[in-house]
Formats: sequence, structure tokens, C-alpha cells
Amino acid sequence: MAERRVYRATTTAPVNIAVVKYWGKRDPKLNLPTNSSLSVTLSQADLRTLTTASCSASYPAEEGDSLVLNGEPSDVSGARTQACFRELRARRAALEAADPSLPKLSTMPLRLVSENNFPTAAGLASSAAGFAALVRAIADLYELPASPSELSLIARQGSGSACRSLFGGYVAWRMGEAADGSDSTAEQVADASHWPDMRALILVVSAAKKGVSSTSGMQQTVATSGLFRERIARVVPQNMAAMEKAIRERDFASFAEVTMRDSNSFHATCADTYPPIFYMNDVSRAAIRAVEQINAAAGRTVAAYTFDAGPNAVIYYLEKDTEAVVGTLYHVLGGDISGWKDAVVKGLKPSLSLDEGVAGILKSGVSRVIMTGVGEGPIKTDEHLIAEDGSRIR
Ligand code: ADP
Ligand code: DP6
Repeated sequence: MAERRVYRATTTAPVNIAVVKYWGKRDPKLNLPTNSSLSVTLSQADLRTLTTASCSASYPAEEGDSLVLNGEPSDVSGARTQACFRELRARRAALEAADPSLPKLSTMPLRLVSENNFPTAAGLASSAAGFAALVRAIADLYELPASPSELSLIARQGSGSACRSLFGGYVAWRMGEAADGSDSTAEQVADASHWPDMRALILVVSAAKKGVSSTSGMQQTVATSGLFRERIARVVPQNMAAMEKAIRERDFASFAEVTMRDSNSFHATCADTYPPIFYMNDVSRAAIRAVEQINAAAGRTVAAYTFDAGPNAVIYYLEKDTEAVVGTLYHVLGGDISGWKDAVVKGLKPSLSLDEGVAGILKSGVSRVIMTGVGEGPIKTDEHLIAEDGSRIR
């Protein structure tokens, strides 16, 4: 009966939102970036991918490897997913070659089931959490003795930003120099407990599928933007150094300034792409104005905005400034939209007021909010999505 056995492993993985952005590939095949980047891993209590990886000699070979994502079959034939499978299988095969007593998991079809508890492909970094979970779950299934850094090298080939989701806290992806990508890995700059009071309020502007994907947008920028050369040569190296110092020293004012400047710089290179790419819209720009007004009224920097390849605003702030940041936005957006945490917003006063134009645009354009904060890396769990007989648990 041994050959009927279903082997399985399950993990959760987090989303991360960069404060120094990855934008540009020097090698699209290996997913090697033109610059280093740095992100904050967000709490899995709010946003997470849950993935079970399983394999069995009883799975029909003709089915091949498969993935069910959010209840629907999902294509695994793409080069990025295949690269992850290939790298993980090769490491398992090496273990099996060194120890013939090990079951030959590397030869069995993989069956994966995954769920995101937030919108997929809507600019909320599902690909980062998704590929980090996929790689971590298969590595656990194969019992690979690989460090998170080594796994980050594999997840990077699924989606660049995914390499940073193998760690919690504050995470750098070092661009590396090697042509084979062996030194292009993620590492933790500080764990979540170093600066645990970092919070993020996400203003979801549009949960629809985005226009230009990051993958193709960044290729167009690399090919056509002159400003981009300046960004990778000077702006990003300075921002990386300043950001690491700000995190080490828990200096929110510096953290915030670099975060906002880097987001602006990234979107400026998008505007300098020919033809131009616009990820932010009027609502995004109103969110920028709102953050500026909140900081001006507070008399110090209490909030920082950043935008990925889409219109949603991510606003970082420290817990002690919840009233100034969340209180102001809660009273502008109103309690009707979903996502407010009662325990946080209860009793918050509208301590600062926003200009009416900005408030009106935000009120009509923000569809929901997500309240979260810095969190941990992938977590192994027994909450399997695949049963012991290989069937999907619904
Ligand atoms: P997002 O802005 O959410 O990252 P992308 O379009 O960049 O959107 O990436 C979405 C893609 O990431 C999906 O089409 C899928 O290929 C992959 N993905 C998302 N979630 C998962 C998951 N849980 N497991 C595996 N792949 C995933
Ligand atoms: C703007 O990691 O989605 O979010 O490597 O092509 O999958 P691929 O791109 P992806 O790009 C993320 C871009 C960004 C910035 C960031 O997360 O650093």
C-alpha cells in the first residue's frame, strides 16, 4: 500500500508591499532585477495565501502537475511555475540520490490546492504571497533542508516580489551580480518584533483586474525610459541605504520620506515610459493629498503613501498615530465601507480635517479598506486543503 500514500504539506504565506520598489529586469528569463528593493511583510491575520502541496504515486501520471486556485483549475504550464517545480524537484532528486531509502517524491505528480483570502490579480500582491506559499509548501513536502534565502531564489523565478514573502518583518531583495542569479536573493533586514508598531491602511480603489501587468510594464520602462537609468543608477541605491538606516533606527519620518519619494520616483518612470503607463488615478492622487494634509496638520510625518502597479494606496503609519491617520480617513470615508476594525476605529475622533475636494474624491472612489500591519513569514499548518486520500477539501 506504500505506493498509494499521499504525501502533503501545508503553509500560509504573506503579502509584502515594497517601500523601495522593484521595477525592471536585467534578465527576464531568470527574473533578475535591475535594482535591489525592500518591503514590509504584512500580517497574515489579515491577508494570506494558504497552500497545500501533495504528491503520490497513485496520482495518474497523465494528469501531470496541477493547481486549483480559489476553487478553479489554474494553468501550471507557464514558464514561471515550471521553473519553480523544476528547481524544487531537482533539489529533492539530489536528496533521493544521496539516500536511496527516501521515497521518490521527485518522480510523482504534484497536486496543489491554494486559496487567497483577498482578491487575486487585483494589485494586492497575490502573486507574491502565491508563489512564496507554493515554493514553501513544496519545499516542506520534499523536506528540503533549504534556508528561506535559498527558497527565495526559487520563488523569485515565479514572481520577483515573491522572493521577499519568504521572510517576515522588513526584507531586502539584493539584486546580485551573478549571471546565473545565484546571488539574487532576499534577506531579512529586521524582524517584525524589531519595529512591531508599523501599521498599514490599504485604500482599495479598484478591485478589478489591472491594465498593464507589472511584468510587461517594467519591460516597457526598461526599454524606453531615460529617467529609469537615473533611478537605478542613483535614486534606488540611495533609497536602499536610507531605508535600511531608518528601519534600524526606527526613524518613522525618514522611513516615510523615502517610501513616498521612492513611490513617486517609480511612478515617474512609468510616466516617462513611451507610450506612458499610468497606474495611479484621480483617487490615488487624492490619497497622496490626504496624506500630505494629515502630515501638515499633525505638524510632523505620521503617514506615508506608496502605490504598486495599480491605483490602491497603501498608507504606512505607527500605532501611536492611529487617531491622526485612521481617525481622519475613517470620518472621511464613512463606516459603510467594509474593512474597518471596530476595536480600532471605535471612539476615534476626526482629529484633523481634509480639504473638501480631496475628501469628496476619496469618498466616492474608495470601495473598501484593509487594516493590517507588519507580520511574520510563512507558517506551517495542519489546516490542509487536500485530504489524506488526495481529494480536495472544500
Ligand atoms: P497581483 O497584483 O495580485 O499580484 P498579478 O496579476 O501580478 O496580480 O498576479 C496574479 C497571478 O499570480 C495569478 O494569475 C496566478 O498566476 C498567481 N497567483 C496568485 N495567487 C496564487 C496562489 N495562491 N498560488 C499560486 N499562484 C498564484
Ligand atoms: C510595483 O513581482 O509582480 O509591486 O517579477 O514580473 O512577477 P514579476 O513582477 P512583480 O512586480 C512587482 C512590482 C511592484 C514593486 C515591488 O513589489 O517591489
